[in-house]
Amino acid sequence: MSDYVLEIENVSKSFPGVRALQEVELKVRPGTVHGVMGENGAGKSTLMKIIIGLYTADKGTIRYKGNILELKDVNDALNVGISMIHQELSPLPFMTVAQNIFLGREKRNKLGFIDHQAIDQATANILKDLNIKLRPTAIMGTLSIAQMQLVEIAKAVSYDASVVIMDEPTSTLTEQEVKHLFRIIEDLKSRGVAVVYITHKMDEVFGITDEVTVYRDGEFVGTDDTRNLTRESLIQKMVGRSFEQFFHKQTAAIEEVVLEVENLCRGKVFRDVSFSVRRGEILGFAGLVGAGRSEVMETLFGIYPKTAGRVVKDGRELDIRSPKDAIGNRIAFLTEDRKGTGLYLNLSVRDNVAIANLVNYLKGGVFIDHQQVRAICDDSVAKLRIRTPSLDQLVLYLSGGNQQKVVVSRWLAMEPDILILDEPTRGIDVGAKSEIYKLMSELAFRGKAIILISSELPEILAMSDRVVVMHEGDKVGELTREELSQELILHMATGEPRSTFAGAQQT
Ligand SMILES: Nc1ncnc2c1ncn2[C@@H]1O[C@H](COP(=O)(O)OP(=O)(O)OP(=O)(O)O)[C@@H](O)[C@H]1O
Ligand SMILES: [Mg+2]
Repeated sequence: MSDYVLEIENVSKSFPGVRALQEVELKVRPGTVHGVMGENGAGKSTLMKIIIGLYTADKGTIRYKGNILELKDVNDALNVGISMIHQELSPLPFMTVAQNIFLGREKRNKLGFIDHQAIDQATANILKDLNIKLRPTAIMGTLSIAQMQLVEIAKAVSYDASVVIMDEPTSTLTEQEVKHLFRIIEDLKSRGVAVVYITHKMDEVFGITDEVTVYRDGEFVGTDDTRNLTRESLIQKMVGRSFEQFFHKQTAAIEEVVLEVENLCRGKVFRDVSFSVRRGEILGFAGLVGAGRSEVMETLFGIYPKTAGRVVKDGRELDIRSPKDAIGNRIAFLTEDRKGTGLYLNLSVRDNVAIANLVNYLKGGVFIDHQQVRAICDDSVAKLRIRTPSLDQLVLYLSGGNQQKVVVSRWLAMEPDILILDEPTRGIDVGAKSEIYKLMSELAFRGKAIILISSELPEILAMSDRVVVMHEGDKVGELTREELSQELILHMATGEPRSTFAGAQQT
């Protein structure tokens, strides 16, 4: 018997114009968590889709429990014990949680009808086992993204899998939910299940994996024991170079106030939020998931109407009723939910970058200056290293992280006065992350005002000149760069005022 439950050798896969994988290997031991890392577009998701029979490899072998694996389709994979939680969720919104979990293998009663009671009961048991607090009869469409993610996890586990693949499973989870997921992973491991875990987050790699395999540009770089790796050596493997500076914070002159928000309210969602931003400033927004930070920005940007409050730009009160109004006032917003509100999957990379900026490219007010559009797109693609065969490629075919980079490029290309970034580096690889920090810094240096929402505290701490902390729809306080500390932000993010902070140790 082999040491490995899954053994992949010399697997290659090409798409039109893209060599996604070139003779890669992956060897996974049972009862371990095997990390998979690599820059956006390195081929991670493609390899996983080959393992579960969604794509067919052009060449190479896959052995599962010692035998060559030949799958007809994804159901085949589930039935032999390989399941996957996808990077892009695609639940069926009108189905219940139970129907979603048992899709394609519904229990039937004696008359051949689907036995809803039986699947509800079975689902209740699975959820209970995983300590997931959801009703089997809840409708998928009414769940939050994080809850849907948990259903996906429950589904993957429910097949009595020997290999569970998780493709960036924590990108939309709160810290609590991440902890919960990690407990589930530990439990799977102790039952001998192998978990293949794709992530861009260093903490996760060092926190839960036993081994890590790195891919770069579709090629296999190597597999190491996590214990033998450091952050630096891992980054080096991923990007093929090391960087001296990860967070680029340039000191910019902070000038006059450009935007003032006074007592902004949206019903019960958030109340009386006031803040201002200056030219050259990066204003961080910290808080736990659900604190209302995104909601404030959505209202400011005209996606949802405010119920009270004023927004003043350059001394003039604005009446923003739609994103179009906001863009007209040179406010840009990189939303958290790129698929829902940010990306046009069926348009090309070029059109996606150009779309918010068309006004800027009108020649004589009427014709689109295609040459300029091309120049700007080329520039973005190069700067953020978007991996695409051409600017005409449909965004649909880009890797998850590269899709994100397209949206980021769009708003950067617009040269706004005020740039709101909601979780700008989620799902983005280390190299491009550092590139985004550099671009943010440059924009601030050129006199733009930037609002940064992030759940990654190191990012907030390194990049912000000032930080607003929110808790359950209220602004709790504001901290200057000198006052910032991780402990203080966390303290305030739970709703405690700054005056009750005890752990004011200097670090
Ligand atoms: N269906 C497809 N058609 C055309 N090209 C594709 C398709 N799927 C993936 N690609 C391309 O293959 C390459 C590898 O993509 P893949 O999604 O595997 O990357 P990844 O490592 O998962 O990246 P990320 O970290 O961004 O999720 C990318 O250049 C991508 O654009
Ligand atoms: Mg991927």
